[in-house]
Amino acid sequence: MPNESSPKQELLELARQLRRRVELSHESDFLAAPRARHAAEPAAAEACDPFGALAAKVAACRQCPLGSTRLNAVFGVGSPQARVMFIGEGPGFEEDHRGEPFVGKSGQLLDRILESIGLSRRTVYIANVVKCHPMKDPSDPEARANDRPPTPEEMDACRPYLDEQIGLIGPRVIVTLGAVALRALMGPGESITRSRGQWREYQPSGGGASVKLLPTFHPAALLRDPSLKRDVWTDMKNLKKELESAS
Ligand code: URA
Repeated sequence: MPNESSPKQELLELARQLRRRVELSHESDFLAAPRARHAAEPAAAEACDPFGALAAKVAACRQCPLGSTRLNAVFGVGSPQARVMFIGEGPGFEEDHRGEPFVGKSGQLLDRILESIGLSRRTVYIANVVKCHPMKDPSDPEARANDRPPTPEEMDACRPYLDEQIGLIGPRVIVTLGAVALRALMGPGESITRSRGQWREYQPSGGGASVKLLPTFHPAALLRDPSLKRDVWTDMKNLKKELESAS
């Protein structure tokens, strides 16, 4: 019968539920233990699905305190073959609840910005510098207005994951959204108002060819000050030209 679940399906469902509970339990080492006992399995999984393996590492990460207070790790969304990667700062309330980057008000605006040049969150790749929600009061993930920027230590702890994402995707262009992402990739002395709209070359940390990088304003800044939309529109037209010249 089509609707009757087989023992195998039931087992898979149980495993899914267990995994979800472990992630939510905030107990740090649950996921690490089976890995140690079956060392060959993650290696095989990593070879078949490096993106999935990296996402699992992020979901189990406790390299900084954010991993124990967030509701969901926010890995990234989009095409692993994307030619353009948008990088923001870190998840906020909505993203923490839904496990996807840029799904709150800023995200809705980002979707419209992408649409304006014929892109979408399925054709690009969207990620953040940190994968877990930085909160002013980490004991209350249900509180609104509880977002804060990530600290340098949190960004350093999360950096290898972003580097690996960039390495796996191999984008032709990186667009940094706002000052935090710009500084994380290009150095702490960078100014978003001076650098916005200027094409740069990003040298991936693990080596390899440099990637064109375009800094633009964060959508949240546009919500605060709509006069910045004109600059972002200019940047998006330049991004479109660059992608067209490359295809
Ligand atoms: N702001 C960000 O920088 N990233 C998100 O995912 C959401 C809001």
